[in-house]
Amino acid sequence: MATSLHDKDKEQGQGTLLPLPPSVEERRRAEWLAAELERHNYLYHTLDAPEISDDQYDILFKELMSLEQRFPDLRSPWSPTLRVGAGLLESLEKKAHSRQMYGLDNVFSGEEWREFVERMRRAAPDAPLAFWCDPKLDGLALELVYEKGLLTMALTRGDGRIGEVVTDTARTIRSVPLRLRGDGLFPAYLEVRGEVVIFKKDFAALNARQAALGQKIFANPRNAAAGALRRLDAAVIKSRPLRFLAYSLGSVTWAPALPCAFHHELMERLLVYGFSIPPGGRLCRTPHEVAQYAESARERRQDFPMEIDGIVAKQDNLEAQESLGFTARAPRFAVAFKFPAVRMETLLIGIDVQVGRTGVLTPVAILQPVAVGGVVVSRATLHNEDEIRSRDVRVGDTVIIQRAGDVIPEVLGPVLSKRPPEAQEFSFPRVCPACGGEVQREPNETAWRCGNLSCPAVRLERIIHFVSKAGLDIQGIGRKWITQLVKTGKVRSPADLFTLTTDALKCFERMGQKLAENFTRAFEAAKANATLTKLISALGIRHVGAQTARTLAGHFSNLDELGMADAETLVALPDIGPEVAASIRGFFSNPANLAEIARLRDLGLASRNLTVQSPADDTPNPLRGKNVLFTGTLSIPRIRAQHLAESAGAASANSVGKKLDYLIVGESPGGKLAKARELGVTVIDEKEFIALLALAGIRAEEQP
Ligand code: IVH
Repeated sequence: MATSLHDKDKEQGQGTLLPLPPSVEERRRAEWLAAELERHNYLYHTLDAPEISDDQYDILFKELMSLEQRFPDLRSPWSPTLRVGAGLLESLEKKAHSRQMYGLDNVFSGEEWREFVERMRRAAPDAPLAFWCDPKLDGLALELVYEKGLLTMALTRGDGRIGEVVTDTARTIRSVPLRLRGDGLFPAYLEVRGEVVIFKKDFAALNARQAALGQKIFANPRNAAAGALRRLDAAVIKSRPLRFLAYSLGSVTWAPALPCAFHHELMERLLVYGFSIPPGGRLCRTPHEVAQYAESARERRQDFPMEIDGIVAKQDNLEAQESLGFTARAPRFAVAFKFPAVRMETLLIGIDVQVGRTGVLTPVAILQPVAVGGVVVSRATLHNEDEIRSRDVRVGDTVIIQRAGDVIPEVLGPVLSKRPPEAQEFSFPRVCPACGGEVQREPNETAWRCGNLSCPAVRLERIIHFVSKAGLDIQGIGRKWITQLVKTGKVRSPADLFTLTTDALKCFERMGQKLAENFTRAFEAAKANATLTKLISALGIRHVGAQTARTLAGHFSNLDELGMADAETLVALPDIGPEVAASIRGFFSNPANLAEIARLRDLGLASRNLTVQSPADDTPNPLRGKNVLFTGTLSIPRIRAQHLAESAGAASANSVGKKLDYLIVGESPGGKLAKARELGVTVIDEKEFIALLALAGIRAEEQP
């Protein structure tokens, strides 16, 4: 490399105390090195066609590294040296997705697929029935944000609405372009969505390495990838060969690039930009071709380099995608066509009875570990007493295990020809295995339930639920630590968590000052970030999941209001029936629950955070607690309109019914308009909707 001018200056003793800028040669060399290394990265990790050896790559890399260390200004935002990873990530920042990251509905047969197509045909009669199909990857969804062609942020899926910022980690994934390739005419803003996976061969090597080091063996590639993506140090990243495969977009501002009109065109564009895409993707021009594609992918399942559990079919026309939109859970324009369940035989070693957070006793089969569809299964649900009896499953039997998609593996039944004479029928316990208390079974229920309000197992499960993703989502504190905290008597209820001090935590084995501080910080952060939705969901009220919690939070201003609501008020809300209403009433009439809520309130969880993130209560808000539905094309994406409505405290309805308060119509509304008129539902246009938002203190153009 050329000697720089200022090196000469130093040699001659003329150096100043001010750091000197890099010479022209050094700047050029750094630029060349960055571009060259990125090219080799792409050749190696995306095209699988390296031109130079690893050693040659390392030499170039080290040269760039040392230049950047001397002149930090030379480090460009796409420098390959950024791929080495940050240190240990302690807690991840959260950010809202600009468009929700939905899950997919499933179909399991040709018949269900045809029904899906029929629904699509009814919803969008003019849309052609061509589909982009690719394998359904079993990994973790990730969103990459590019501004003017540069990677600026990476967000995990999170709960679909809010994800965790994992930009540094994403940069370490070699198949993630740090800047887009191509002609330089990039979309001004582009969100690329895809899946982080580990290939089967890399996974086998990873587990072999883990075993050799006496370290944890991963059950499946997905788990190994999940751990690596969310929290890691540089050494961990290096040892987990993550790959990113792109399959769709979030928000995009195409200009100055030309927009794409079809999904297949989009996939080609993603290739040009330097992304890898799921292997074997293809445009199917008829629904029948999709069914054939699904069948052939099932037959070739083992040949795919990564675990797949089905295929995904997406309406090819992007305009039709937009107009079909989403249900509360999933797009109407795409569906996962899942492979049929995989079955295996193994030995039933024993039956364990677990007590869940609502006191239900669930029998769990303890199995001789067996690989079922790429996942090692050692436990499987037996559902309840009646199922064990009707399937005639006995300890000592060889049993058939089934695993379908993401669902918990289950025991289908015994292989009678292999039943040993000593196989024993299971007698279901009549007392709670955790507290010895009485168990009851309601006449129309299948489950036995422990009725002891202070059963230690129920208490433990409720606290675990409280901190879990379905609850307040307190980072880094899982089942293991909660079990210890409860066992040692330090924590008896969720509120106790917020009173723990670093000193109290440090008494535990393997809990140093740093971890203890992380824990207390995580509790504080959870307190600060708690919303009414999360809190309702965290309470673990029977039948109240995330969706119902959202509805309730949209209608009530705080927990006290919810606690006082009678069954009549509750059933008037969308998706809440008499059973859910009774469960909510039951929860709030239990003095122990009321005392716990009072404690949470005293701890500060009841202040600002227990109200929805909607405007102050004294503003007149015509949308609060109202059920709204959109139809036709709006000037803003429908999902954004839904977000706006929800931030004003309204709930999104799925269909036109008597409980609907407002139907908001855009251009070319469908059949919903006629139905709404028939039922006398108030119909407003987009302008009026924006005016209502303004009354609620929300300005449409300012919202993310
Ligand atoms: S497309 C709006 N394509 O499966 C359509 N998703 O179970 C967006 N997934 O949340 C998804 N492989 O994370 C698409 N080839 C593929 C996929 C895929 C896996 C994930 C995705 C989604 C989940 C739903």
